[in-house]
Amino acid sequence: MGQKVIFVTSYKGGVGKTTVSVNLALALSMLKKKVLIIDANLTTPHVAIHYGFNEFSSALQDVLNNLTKIEDAIYKNERYNLDFIPSRVFKRLGDSNADYRILNLPYHISKLVNYYDFIVVDTRPSQDLDFVKLIPYATMVVVTTPDIVSLIEAKKLRDDLKNLGINDMYLVVNLYDRRSRDKMNIQDIKSRSGFSRVFEIPESKKMQEALKLGVPIVVGNSRDSAAIAFINFAKEIIR
Ligand SMILES: Nc1ncnc2c1ncn2[C@@H]1O[C@H](COP(=O)(O)OP(=O)(O)OP(=O)(O)O)[C@@H](O)[C@H]1O
Ligand SMILES: [Mg+2]
Repeated sequence: MGQKVIFVTSYKGGVGKTTVSVNLALALSMLKKKVLIIDANLTTPHVAIHYGFNEFSSALQDVLNNLTKIEDAIYKNERYNLDFIPSRVFKRLGDSNADYRILNLPYHISKLVNYYDFIVVDTRPSQDLDFVKLIPYATMVVVTTPDIVSLIEAKKLRDDLKNLGINDMYLVVNLYDRRSRDKMNIQDIKSRSGFSRVFEIPESKKMQEALKLGVPIVVGNSRDSAAIAFINFAKEIIR
């Protein structure tokens, strides 16, 4: 296995990208991997909230605007044994210039790939992902919910990625309820979305509490079915 840069993405908003990113990154770290998570959602960055982090002197916007080297924007966190590059929630003057410079992200990431087993990148909805083709070892994690609209967007994204020559991808079906009577079955989801590698994450009643505490659910919830699914997904990625 080489180093892997994992982009967590979706065209549709609010499907669970950040939830998947923070729990996957932490699960990989709990499985003894050296992990960096980058919050590349420049519009609505929420990774720091999930981890209960605050107070950053530099952010990804500074890296993209060539004001800070990427290695100087890394926050090391001992509590989680996880490295983190935040984006600024409240913009400063000049931060919006970073929006189009996101295309230079592969250049910045390339300086770090040798130092990590995995780099997890949370993205904003509808992020144009052409730049990903410049990253060797990129794995795409497309997040969807099990509904028709979200699955149409997942299929569109899958087709766009394929057209870019990107084939290493998973579909994560978040908020999937196996017991629901009107559930869409996995075979149906596969044929609607065009993905062959599909992974389910159930709803967790503990998610909002986890957000309030700033502690992702993979920590200390070994019986929660979503937490277990995140750990299993991390194992699948490592395999
Ligand atoms: N498996 C889950 N169980 C319970 N709640 C969940 C689950 N996944 C996500 N949520 C909740 O759904 C909401 C949206 O999730 P999240 O912020 O991760 O979506 P997103 O795709 O990152 O959104 P955006 O497109 O704005 O970046 C959050 O309140 C989150 O706590
Ligand atoms: Mg998000």
